[in-house]
Amino acid sequence: MAARPEDQVSEAQIAVHWREEAYYSPPPQFIAQANAAYPDILERFSEQRFPDCFKEYADLLTWDSYWHTTLDTSKPPFWKWFVGGRLNACYNCVDRHLRTSRNKAAIIWVPEPESEDTKAITYQELYRQVNEFAALLRDHCGVKTGDRVTFHLPMVPELPVSMLACARLGAIHSEVFGGFSGAACGGRVADSQSHVLVTMDGYHRNGELVDHKVKADEAVETARELGHEVDKVLVWRRNPGSYASQSPMVEGRDVFVDELLPDYRGTVVEPVSMPAEAPLFLMYTSGTTGRPKGCQHSTGGYLAYVAGTSKYYQDIHPEDTYWCAADIGWITGHSYIVYGPLALGATSVMYEGVPTYPDAGRVWRIAERLGVNIFHTAPTTIRMLRKLGPDEPNKYHYHLKHMTTVGEPIEPEVWRWYHDVAGKGEAVVVDTWWQTETGGFLGSTLPALQPMKPGSCGPGVLGIYPVIYDEEGSEVEAGSERAGNICIRNPWPGIFQTIWGQPDRFVQIYYQKYCRNADSQDWRDWPYFAGDGATQAADGYFRILGRVDDVINVAGHRLGTKELESACLTVDEIAEAAAVPVMDEVRGRAVEMYVALKPGVAPSKDIEATVAEAIVREIGKIARPKHVWIVADMPKTRSGKIMRRVIAGISNFTDVGDVSTLANPEIVDDIRHRIQSEK
Ligand code: WT7
Repeated sequence: MAARPEDQVSEAQIAVHWREEAYYSPPPQFIAQANAAYPDILERFSEQRFPDCFKEYADLLTWDSYWHTTLDTSKPPFWKWFVGGRLNACYNCVDRHLRTSRNKAAIIWVPEPESEDTKAITYQELYRQVNEFAALLRDHCGVKTGDRVTFHLPMVPELPVSMLACARLGAIHSEVFGGFSGAACGGRVADSQSHVLVTMDGYHRNGELVDHKVKADEAVETARELGHEVDKVLVWRRNPGSYASQSPMVEGRDVFVDELLPDYRGTVVEPVSMPAEAPLFLMYTSGTTGRPKGCQHSTGGYLAYVAGTSKYYQDIHPEDTYWCAADIGWITGHSYIVYGPLALGATSVMYEGVPTYPDAGRVWRIAERLGVNIFHTAPTTIRMLRKLGPDEPNKYHYHLKHMTTVGEPIEPEVWRWYHDVAGKGEAVVVDTWWQTETGGFLGSTLPALQPMKPGSCGPGVLGIYPVIYDEEGSEVEAGSERAGNICIRNPWPGIFQTIWGQPDRFVQIYYQKYCRNADSQDWRDWPYFAGDGATQAADGYFRILGRVDDVINVAGHRLGTKELESACLTVDEIAEAAAVPVMDEVRGRAVEMYVALKPGVAPSKDIEATVAEAIVREIGKIARPKHVWIVADMPKTRSGKIMRRVIAGISNFTDVGDVSTLANPEIVDDIRHRIQSEK
């Protein structure tokens, strides 16, 4: 790949290039029933039909008033979809299904303890719960249309209920992944200026009843340090009547939701008719620099896009038992557990716990018990299930027709286990490449029509036209297998609207790099820069190599090197820190931290442990580094920038590149000797 800033390190740099793989065809019985079984669909979404092709997705929804302009490009790159249209997302995911499916399960929730009963929530029951919680938010907390409400909720049905209640009011929800620390949550509360925080007392994870409410107290404290006050903390109880937290309730601020709900029993809240362009939610993600970015997603465009891709790529039919085993705390869960499937009136399975708890057969037992036939997960989970229970699937009687993977590149041998063993060779497998920012899938195979190829995500999805550019902005020849930066030529309805409160940063990060003409209102001049390295084979299939910016994707969770480094610098003894990605057998990639100590401080195991703890405190357990290396000094440029690229080369036993221009080239061999002899 062409030149990049020399102090950067990228995942794409350490990517393993595997060989071209043979195709697999979808099973005939899958093709026979697929939602997209006829090739004319590719024509309906051809480039000539852009942007009107996306009307097909929007027509899956119920609109209060129809739009007059499909795509407004007057203020690039702030694209507007379905302008003039009005709708309510909650109405579309709940109310409108009552007529035909009142008694159908909308959500089937599986608690982690196997001794606890699975719970099915019908559309009618969901409607009741959402209305009552919406009334509580409105009347007890004063939540109005356009207000932000932060959730710090685990995988419990109260999470989709809370999301849909906000959507009903036209309030903007911002769910923070339950595994994030209180401090990380507090930063997001302050950034979104949420006055209400919704949390839970505790939840089951990996055999433990986790105390979660304590994190809400930390979040409120962090927000306060950032100059923002939270007025109300709503605490759902995992088991109403008993309290699973050590943290006391704060008078006037904290309330148990189950104690207030009876006041709202039977209350119906009219769904607020929202403009298509009104924000539906924020989802924070890590970026190249600075604090996490609140990706703002729209109501009409987003919902249309996730409904359409759920129909054609997840191939969800009314009678399917669909299980997306992601966490709703990430975009995958928003789009493909909650909004997409519920917009289609489907049944969506939710699981509270860890896929390998209490053993590697758990996932397959759930599949057998519920009759799951569509299954969606991440390569990291597949690697773990394969490692811990390679033969477990054979012990259970389930049959999948369709399987999806998302979040990271999947190695061909892992793909084959997923297909042959987990899927028993009966299911079609689609690898879906996309991002928090993009709302829904960008690259994948249309399951009945395009053959699968292990290790490649496939071509652009319907209506998405990817292109690879080199660092200078020239197009890398299509099908040449040369690596470059993958971009999307055209806007699409699911693309996020902006970074909350930071429109300039939005333009700069995602569009500036490859903008052809900043004065142009033609979308062709504004390709979307995804931040991933990729190659394209002669058949048009893309292979994603990983991030090209300072983002490390650990087990499908995006971590910014800057956030990791800032967390290290909260430790007194640390003078400098650098985070680098290393290949990891189960998690795909992991983080190694390199730290240099302040003068006079002696290295010790204690300091290494303190650094790891600081990261867990500031970000969350998912960010715990694989190793903390204390080094005498960092390799630096003459201008003093830490050369992460060199460190990553050492950590991964790969080429460190040219070090002759370093200010301290001698340190490279020192570090290499020390680290590589200990690994
Ligand atoms: C980054 C986005 C989209 C939901 C989960 C992650 C990587 C995502 C794939 C895939 C190879 C993938 C990219 C992307 N990624 N899917 N199928 N193959 N890489 O969302 O946290 O926003 O992370 O995950 O590097 O940029 P996210």
